[in-house]
Amino acid sequence: MAITETTPVTYDPFSWEIQHNPYPTYERLREEAPVYHSEKHGFWALSRHADVLAASLAPLTFVSSHGVTLEGVEQGQPLLILKDPPEHEWHRKVVSRVFTPRYVASLEPYIRQVACELLDGLRDREVFDVIEEFSVQLPLRVAAELLGIPEDHRQPIHEASDRLVDRDDDGKPTDDAMAAQIELVALMYELVTEHRRNPSDGVFDLLVNSPVVDDEGNEELLSDEELAIRFQELAFAGHETVARLIPNGVVALTWTPDARRRLVADPSLVPAAVEETLRWDAPSHYQGRWSTEATEWHGVTIPADQRVILITGAANHDPRVYDHAERFDLDRRNDRPLSFGFGVHLCLGANLARMETKVAFEELLARFPEWELEESGIVRLRTGNVRGLAHLPIRPVRTTDPTR
Ligand code: HEM
Repeated sequence: MAITETTPVTYDPFSWEIQHNPYPTYERLREEAPVYHSEKHGFWALSRHADVLAASLAPLTFVSSHGVTLEGVEQGQPLLILKDPPEHEWHRKVVSRVFTPRYVASLEPYIRQVACELLDGLRDREVFDVIEEFSVQLPLRVAAELLGIPEDHRQPIHEASDRLVDRDDDGKPTDDAMAAQIELVALMYELVTEHRRNPSDGVFDLLVNSPVVDDEGNEELLSDEELAIRFQELAFAGHETVARLIPNGVVALTWTPDARRRLVADPSLVPAAVEETLRWDAPSHYQGRWSTEATEWHGVTIPADQRVILITGAANHDPRVYDHAERFDLDRRNDRPLSFGFGVHLCLGANLARMETKVAFEELLARFPEWELEESGIVRLRTGNVRGLAHLPIRPVRTTDPTR
């Protein structure tokens, strides 16, 4: 069938076309179908910034307990991200104790040491893979440090986390993804048992010994199964996303050499580059919800009991909020960033993620002020709501000319 301007927009998040470049379709969704219904996958989608924001701020109308992916396969697991108010708040308080600004700040020297070690090992290489050799390793080691995961468990956890997000053509988790989920929980369960045998300071102790307190003041400690799942949640959320954000920034800086040159000359601009990378191509493109009541948007009703996705990736490019949204712009102000979610489920690791990415950009640019992409080696991940690359080989350009 010939595609004409009157062909209604179709959006299939699992198609290769969307995985490769969703932005032209996002534009059509925002303009032509801001309340989109997919017959094929049975979901509704909001894509304008104001709508994604409003739905994120209504956690009892758009609940998370039916799953936050399109497939909803994680439904029923005792994950923090799947809890709805008020229970969500009781559990979030416990995990929040880990991510205090002071604790996150105290991790910076360790993050820098790891980043320097990894990048120094790549200094003399003609070509290296930014993802496998750097952006995966950095957050993996930081998450492992944070959670006290021993060396021999780290690579298996990364490999299982990568397999976990694998999807087939219909968006269903592959058999291997299901197997990876079981392996990950088993690995985490082993760690919980080990920590019980040899208690130590740190995050584990904090999670074990901080009771969940409900509104009546009743207290309950997390069970071993809940602890294993909470560990898995933090390890996965803590490394899969940062591992994709860093290379998205590398691509942005390759395509925007002026921005790259400004960052090399003035590293105080790096935090702005981190924020802009989050907006320009976020690692998490949509948040899944379930409607508990009918709501009306732009004259269209989303009925109760429906899967709804909030496409932050589309909202991040909404021209109603961002001028020249497709442009990577270090001078952009982003007052209501959505890439870490918004409202009660706002990412707990946002400050840690920002710091890891800042350090990664600083150390990368200090050693490799210019590079070229090895286009033929670039591989995209095929996933649900984590968007990113699996391999990004780059060739550093050796030059003594500081103005390049
Ligand atoms: C660039 C990196 C990251 C991105 C883009 C990201 C994105 C997000 C988003 C969009 C949400 C909200 C999900 C929803 O509303 O359904 C979220 C929640 C969460 N994130 Fe992150 N995240 C990142 C890094 C991290 C890190 C480093 C950690 C921890 C080590 C972490 C832990 C969590 C947790 C525990 C939640 C659930 C919060 C709740 O439900 O109350 N994230 N993240």
